[in-house]
Amino acid sequence: MMTKVFGLLGHPVGHSKSPLIHNDAFSSAGMDARYHAFDVKPEQVKAAVEGIRALQLAGCNVTVPHKIAVMDFLDEIDDEAKQIGAVNTIVNQGGRLIGYNTDGRGYVESLLEELGEPLADKNILVIGAGGAARGVVTALARHGVARLTITNRTLEKANALLDIAKSLNTEAEAISRDDAESKLGEYDVIINTTSIGMSPNTDESPLSLKKLAPGTIVSDLIYNPIETKLLKEAAQRGGRTLNGVGMFVNQAALSFEHWTGMKPNRQRMKELVVETLG
Ligand code: ATR
Repeated sequence: MMTKVFGLLGHPVGHSKSPLIHNDAFSSAGMDARYHAFDVKPEQVKAAVEGIRALQLAGCNVTVPHKIAVMDFLDEIDDEAKQIGAVNTIVNQGGRLIGYNTDGRGYVESLLEELGEPLADKNILVIGAGGAARGVVTALARHGVARLTITNRTLEKANALLDIAKSLNTEAEAISRDDAESKLGEYDVIINTTSIGMSPNTDESPLSLKKLAPGTIVSDLIYNPIETKLLKEAAQRGGRTLNGVGMFVNQAALSFEHWTGMKPNRQRMKELVVETLG
C-alpha cells in the first residue's frame, strides 16, 4: 500500500499546528499516512488543486487566504460549506474532489462542551462579520439557535450575515458597537470572530466588557495567544471564558473524520497544541 499523503494549502503556513496534530493522529491510528503544509501563492490555487488530483493526495485542509478561491476548482461542495461560502477541507474520493467546511461546526462543538446545555434559546452576540463570523453564524443557525445579534465595524457586512442567518430560520439583527456594549448584560454568550487581540497585537480588545454580567460565556476564536485581552478581562469580571484552541482542534478532528472515517483523540490534539503554543 502506498503512503497516503494529506496537505494544507495556505499562505503562509509556516506556523500552522495542523501538521503536528494530524501526523500524531495518523500515527496513533496506525495509519501509513503523512500530512504536509504546502505554501501556495494566491495565483497558484488552481494549479495546486489540480495537483491534488495529479499527485493523488488523499485530502487537504485549506486555510487563509484560499478558502473561497479553491471552491471554483472542486467537483462537489457540501451544503454547509456552500452556505458558509468557504471550504476548509477537501476529500479526494477516487479523483473527485469534495469540499467541506468544518470550522463552524468545530466552533459550535467547543461551545456546547463549555456550556453543557442546549444552545437553542441562548442570547448570543457575535463580534465581526468576516469569513470566520460566517462560519460561526451559519453553524449556530444550523444548530437551531433562535436569535443572534451581530456587531461589526462595517455595517453592510453585518447585513449580509443577517441574510444567511434568516435563510436558516434564525432571527438576526445588527447593532453598533456602542449599543452592544451598553446591552452587554443581556447576552448569555459573546463571541469574538475578529482578529483583534491576535498576536502580535495582544494589547487590543474588540469590545468593552464594563457591563458584563457574571457567568456570561465570553469566547474568542483566537488561539494565539491562548488567553486574549478580551478573555483576561472577562475572567476578571466573573465571566466564563472559552479560548480558540477547542475550535481549532475540533475543526481538525472533523476533517480527520471526513478523510478516514475515524475519530481522533481530541484531548490529545488539544494538549499538543497548548504545549507548543506555550
Ligand atoms: P476572517 O476570515 O478572519 O474573518 P475577514 O473576513 O477579513 O477575516 O474579517 C475580519 C473581521 O474582523 C471583520 O468583521 C472586520 O471588520 P470589517 O468588516 O469592518 O472590516 C473585523 N476587523 C478586523 N480588524 C478590525 C479592527 N481593527 N477594528 C474593527 N474590526 C476589525
